Amino acid sequence: MKNSLPQAPGPIGVFDSGYGGLTILNKIREALPQYDYIYLGDNARSPYGSRSFEIVYKFTLEAVDKLFEMGCHLVILACNTASAKALRSIQTNDLPDIDPNRRVLGVIRPTVECIGSITESRHIGVLATAGTIKSESYPLEIQKLFPDIRVNGVACPMWVPLVENNESQEEGADYFIQKYINQLLQKDPEIDTVILGCTHYPLLLPKIRQYMPQPIRIVSQGEYVAESLKEYLNRHPEMDARCTKKGGCLFYTTEAEEKFSESASIFLNQPISVKRISIEKT
Ligand code: DGL
Repeated sequence: MKNSLPQAPGPIGVFDSGYGGLTILNKIREALPQYDYIYLGDNARSPYGSRSFEIVYKFTLEAVDKLFEMGCHLVILACNTASAKALRSIQTNDLPDIDPNRRVLGVIRPTVECIGSITESRHIGVLATAGTIKSESYPLEIQKLFPDIRVNGVACPMWVPLVENNESQEEGADYFIQKYINQLLQKDPEIDTVILGCTHYPLLLPKIRQYMPQPIRIVSQGEYVAESLKEYLNRHPEMDARCTKKGGCLFYTTEAEEKFSESASIFLNQPISVKRISIEKT
């Protein structure tokens, strides 16, 4: 165990490669406004979706270490790519050494748990990063809980760059939004429910809605992750006691502060102040 880690109660850490985790943070803060939060976006190294398993694991572990050093006892990987590629290794191999009492949770399981009661056709689609699709995490997890559901996925490698570069509402975005939706529906025309399996994608929702045929339900993860965190804290009073409750939220990024605060303020609909930090370990 790392003796240097702060032992006093601290904020809940929320991590993503960039802006996407803000869609999760928003819903978590709506459901659990009394807690303190630290948001960390590794925007300087985003996107993670096209990176190797080893690199996503290394970057995610660096972020988790940083959030623990900043006083968090509980960290949410508000990133599907990190949840798919790094969560299991961090939980099994790293946490026992770092501090067996700290916890790291992901976003895939809470999303999968909700899906059984949403789809009627039992055909669902997943739109996600190349890394998440290649990991097969969604079909594998869905298979465990709902073996009757058929899952098809399509990687959308251009969507995260559209968000990170503030192009999500521009005309150029339309081509790529339509392209991946069409690819998915060609794979399985019986799909009645589509999971946005990347936390950046709800930031593209107006255009996704425009190109998704009307009867298809679009599942954004935020509210399911928030609900699942609420239940987790109820089930684990010992962790709840280690989370401070003053209703505050601090924002950190690995890129230029001005760019993050400008974009994040738009996504969150309120001005925020942000600090730039380095999380890279040599
Ligand atoms: N927002 C992340 C996810 O949910 C990753 C995006 C990326 O960096 O590619 O997968």
